[in-house]
Formats: sequence, C-alpha cells, structure tokens
Amino acid sequence: MRYAHIVGWGRYLPERVVTNDELSHLVDTTDEWIHQRTGIRSRHIAAPHETTATLAFEAAARALAVADLHPSQVELIIVATSTPGHMFPSTACLVQDYLGAGRAGAFDLSAACSGFVYALQMASQSIATGAVRNAVVIGAETMSRVIDWSDRGTCVLFGDGAGAVVLKGSSVPGGVLSTTLRSDGSGGDLLSLPALYHNPVPIAGAEFAHNGHHKNIVDMDGRQVYRFATNVIASSIQDVLKMGEMALEDVALIIPHQANVRIIETAAKKLKLPLEKFYLNVERTGNTSAASIPIALCEAVEEGRLKPDDNVIFVGFGGGLTWGASLLKWDVTPPQVSFIDHEWKRVRYVMARGRSRLRRLQRRVEAAVARPPNGHKPDES
Ligand SMILES: CC(C)(COP(=O)(O)OP(=O)(O)OC[C@H]1O[C@@H](n2cnc3c(N)ncnc32)[C@H](O)[C@@H]1OP(=O)(O)O)[C@@H](O)C(=O)NCCC(=O)NCCS
Repeated sequence: MRYAHIVGWGRYLPERVVTNDELSHLVDTTDEWIHQRTGIRSRHIAAPHETTATLAFEAAARALAVADLHPSQVELIIVATSTPGHMFPSTACLVQDYLGAGRAGAFDLSAACSGFVYALQMASQSIATGAVRNAVVIGAETMSRVIDWSDRGTCVLFGDGAGAVVLKGSSVPGGVLSTTLRSDGSGGDLLSLPALYHNPVPIAGAEFAHNGHHKNIVDMDGRQVYRFATNVIASSIQDVLKMGEMALEDVALIIPHQANVRIIETAAKKLKLPLEKFYLNVERTGNTSAASIPIALCEAVEEGRLKPDDNVIFVGFGGGLTWGASLLKWDVTPPQVSFIDHEWKRVRYVMARGRSRLRRLQRRVEAAVARPPNGHKPDES
C-alpha cells in the first residue's frame, strides 16, 4: 500500500494589493460593508504580464524547492483552475514546460473552488495505485479577469493567486487518509462562468447556436450560494471523518476554502467548533477559488499552525455545484530553504525555458526541411 504524503508546498500572490477602499472608487460600496459581510479587507490582483500559468509556475517552483525534488523527476502535474488562459494547451502543460518537467503527464481540472480538493484526490489515488511516484498539485486563478468590475455583488469577493503542493508516495502510513467528493449540477446556475463560443459554423444542419452568453464573467446568486456553502462544509467534514474513522476532536486544524468569514463562522457553529479551529486568511486574499486552500495551507505552515502528526482537513465548495473534503495526517517539519538556495534553484528554470525555445526552433527547422518544393507532392520527387 502506498500513501501520498505532502512533502512540499508553495504559494504565489501577485504584488499588487487592492483594498476595499480602492474598490469603493469603482463601485458603490464601502470597506465597512465588504468587511462586515465577507471578512475581506484586500485582495491581490495579477499584473498585466502575469497569467494563471505563470502564477501556478511560481507556486510549483517554491513547492519543489521545499520538497527538494528536481523538476525532471516530477511524474504528474495537475492544475485546478477555472481561469485557464487556453483550453489547450492546458495550464498544466505550460507549467510543465516552464518547470522543464520532461517526464510529467499534465492536465487541468475544472471543479471551481473545490478544484484543489478534487485534484489532490486524483493525484493521491494515482500515487496509491502505484501509477506515479509523485505529483505536483496546483490551484491557480486569475479571477480578476473573469469578474464584472461594475458588479458590486461579485467584484469585491475575488482575488488572484496560486498555491501548490508536492505529493510523494511512501509505504509509511499517513498523508492523505480519506477524501469525499460530491456534486450537484442542478445548482449549476447559482454560480457560473460561461465559456465563449463565438465561431459561426458555415455548414448546413450544423449552424452555430449561440449559448446566450456574451461575456465570460462570473454570475452568482449570493444568498443561495451562501446557504449551500454553510450546509456542505459541515456535512463534508463529517463525511470525511467517518471515512477516516476519526472524530472532530482528533483534528488539529481545518483549512476551508476561503470564500467568506461569515460562511465559515456559520459552519463552525453547526459543528459546535470554535472559529479558531479553522484557518482563515480571506481578509488578505479574498476568494482565490481553487488556489485558496493551498495558499492558506502554506500560510498555516509558516505560522506554525501545523505540527508533525497533526490531523488536518481541507474542505472545498463552489460552482458546479461541487464540494468535498480531504483528511490528512501532516507529517513533515518544514525544511529550511534558504533564499540563496531558492534563487540558485531558479537557474534551472531559466535553462528549461532555453531548452523549450530550442525544441521549438528544432521543430520549425525540421518542418522546413521536410516541406516539399512548391507544387511537388512528396511521392513525386
Ligand atoms: C455576496 C454576499 C456577501 C452578499 O451579502 P447579502 O447579505 O446576501 O446581500 P444581498 O445580495 O442580499 O444584497 C443586500 C444589499 O446589499 C447590496 N450590495 C451587494 N453588494 C454590495 C456591495 N459590495 N457594497 C454595498 N452594497 C452591496 C445589494 O445591492 C443589496 O441592496 P438592496 O437591498 O438595496 O437591493 C453574500 O450573499 C455571500 O457571501 N454569498 C456567498 C458568496 C460566495 O462566497 N461565493 C463564492 C462561493 S465559492
């Protein structure tokens, strides 16, 4: 039996911080309203040159440095995201290229704000079956690019960022112990982000039917989502504990998806738990969707909130509707990664980009050489 242990973690938050006061110049809102209803004071917003893939890469590079794993040894990369730059190449493939992870399979996973919990389960099961020995699981979002900045009901809630973990297989019991994943598509309209389908199909019988959406922006029924979230946080935690044959008292820390402090407070009351049992950083990050749990995990570790042998629960919920929870045994003491060591390791990523460019050039040269002279079919020459 193989167990998937978290051996590395990293996060990246864009430099630019946008406060509630700043938003009050954009829409009719106040810091007081936002903070009282959500607990959010500020969020990070990606710079124009940053993409979901570059955010994901930064988080993954940091996680690999903590795990002391060379990118060439990585076997699987999963990026949970609702804001990919492309449907293909996937964000995970771009990250694979930036890392120079030449042996890794890579794919994106779409489960909205529950994406990280889903991706963690896919990766830990791949390790448990022996299909791969390790995996990098990333949650990364540029929510700022799919927000209607004139809608005060949604634009105050979200932020950008990325978090990553490195999972490694071991015969030592621990790591991811149990996971529950759930969905209910009948509530899909409560929280949605349409994809754009523009192109008319000039073929009789296959004419394009417009999907009715003219913008790809987040649409939300806040009250209904609020109700849904408070219910599923409590039920997922109870389900995952039952699967792992543990009790709430055995859990040191719960790291919930960071959507809203009030949602977490209500869930804590339902479970009769003090709020301190939940790690919260939404005040500084806003809702970073699939990135929020791994970002919060990194901060919890930095603040010494997790010690070896602690049991920890990740609980996610969001569009789809989707929800789920993972129960883990935390069994690592954070290694000291010096600044110099970290910067030195980044040289390998500069080299990876160089190799990637060379491969592109090589493909172009090969294609030019293979191209037959004008008007000649290959079999005529
Ligand atoms: C979004 C949310 C904070 C709104 O709070 P609410 O108490 O439900 O507020 P409502 O949407 O009912 O709106 C109440 C009033 O506040 C107004 N309002 C909405 N956003 C506002 C803002 N940013 N600033 C000031 N007023 C605002 C509304 O227009 C409404 O005004 P009206 O009564 O004059 O019509 C809350 O519903 C929520 O947190 N939902 C869950 C959202 C979430 O976490 N989504 C992601 C899950 S993964």
